[in-house]
Amino acid sequence: MPTKIEKDVYTGKDTTGHEWDGIKELDTPLPKWWINVWLVCIAFAAVYVVLYPSIPLGTTYFKGVLGWSSTGAVAQSVAAMNARHAADMKRIGQLPIMQVTADPKLKEVALQAGRIAFAENCQPCHGPAGTGRVGYPPLDTNFWLWGGTLPDIQRIIMYGIRSGDAKAHESQMPAFGHDGILKPDQVVLVSNYVATLFGIEKPGPTTAAGEKIFEDNCAACHGTKGQGNQSIGAPPLESRVHLYGDSLAAIEYQVNTPRAGVMPAWHTRLDPATINSLAIYVHSLGGGE
Ligand code: HEC
Ligand code: HEC
Repeated sequence: MPTKIEKDVYTGKDTTGHEWDGIKELDTPLPKWWINVWLVCIAFAAVYVVLYPSIPLGTTYFKGVLGWSSTGAVAQSVAAMNARHAADMKRIGQLPIMQVTADPKLKEVALQAGRIAFAENCQPCHGPAGTGRVGYPPLDTNFWLWGGTLPDIQRIIMYGIRSGDAKAHESQMPAFGHDGILKPDQVVLVSNYVATLFGIEKPGPTTAAGEKIFEDNCAACHGTKGQGNQSIGAPPLESRVHLYGDSLAAIEYQVNTPRAGVMPAWHTRLDPATINSLAIYVHSLGGGE
């Protein structure tokens, strides 16, 4: 159908010449402001494509003349944060640990660094935030096998426990059952007695016999009342926190075949600032001594 441009009688505007069933289309142009915004967007896109990473090129892409990238931006802010803390971390590694915790600003930085280092290195064994699990002591309670002062904790992190390091804590509970030091029925008697200390069994007719075996074989390390001995890492047996579980079976297992848990030494793997930060973080978890 041939188009015929004419004036609309009501608005005085041109029509486009399109007509359907007597309805004519007015030729109303896009508003000026809209066209301008559109042109500005095109200009912006053209500049952006040149400056920033944009056009895909097979396996790679056009990197943009500014050389900006989002991973680069993250790396930069991490580097900036490290630079901000570098001076503090240096002091945390050099000062005696008691001096580090006495300085509120250094302590704050150490707590942050310690939390990160803990998640990276310690969490697999001690659980998130040091909640512990069977065989791996909780670090978030005020229960300490070897002592809970800052220097105690620092020393353990550096040299470990039964780690093979020359300065590691050493101690070995004898394998009373396995090595035949106690007969099987004596193992049962003494374990039952220990269970009364744990509070999971009530004293009964055999308790006295168990107590006698305990005094002869166990009290030297665990104390006469089973109160434990931090200088050799012998756990208290009357406490509610148990390294290897609080069932009668767990006690018998330990009397037969002790595990002698190993805590690795870290002074060969972590720098002094990280070790001090870890000690301060662990000490803060459960209220160290
Ligand atoms: C391979 C497992 C393992 C890893 C990893 C590990 N630990 Fe331990 N840790 C142990 C064991 C096992 C013990 C208890 C040993 C024992 O005395 O029977 C222990 C004990 C400790 C103790 C002494 C607790 C007490 O009650 O006296 C501290 C403190 C400690 N670990 C801190 C850390 C820190 C900090 C890290 C990370 C740098 C870490 N551990 C990494 C296994 C581990
Ligand atoms: C030479 C010191 C020593 C003697 C003697 C000793 N123990 Fe132990 N005991 C330890 C140490 C150290 C541990 C923890 C270390 C490990 O095996 O991982 C321990 C752990 C235990 C545990 C586990 C505690 C927990 O929290 O889960 C029990 C139970 C126990 N001993 C009972 C006994 C009994 C019963 C005797 C006597 C028949 C005895 N021990 C004799 C040193 C000793």
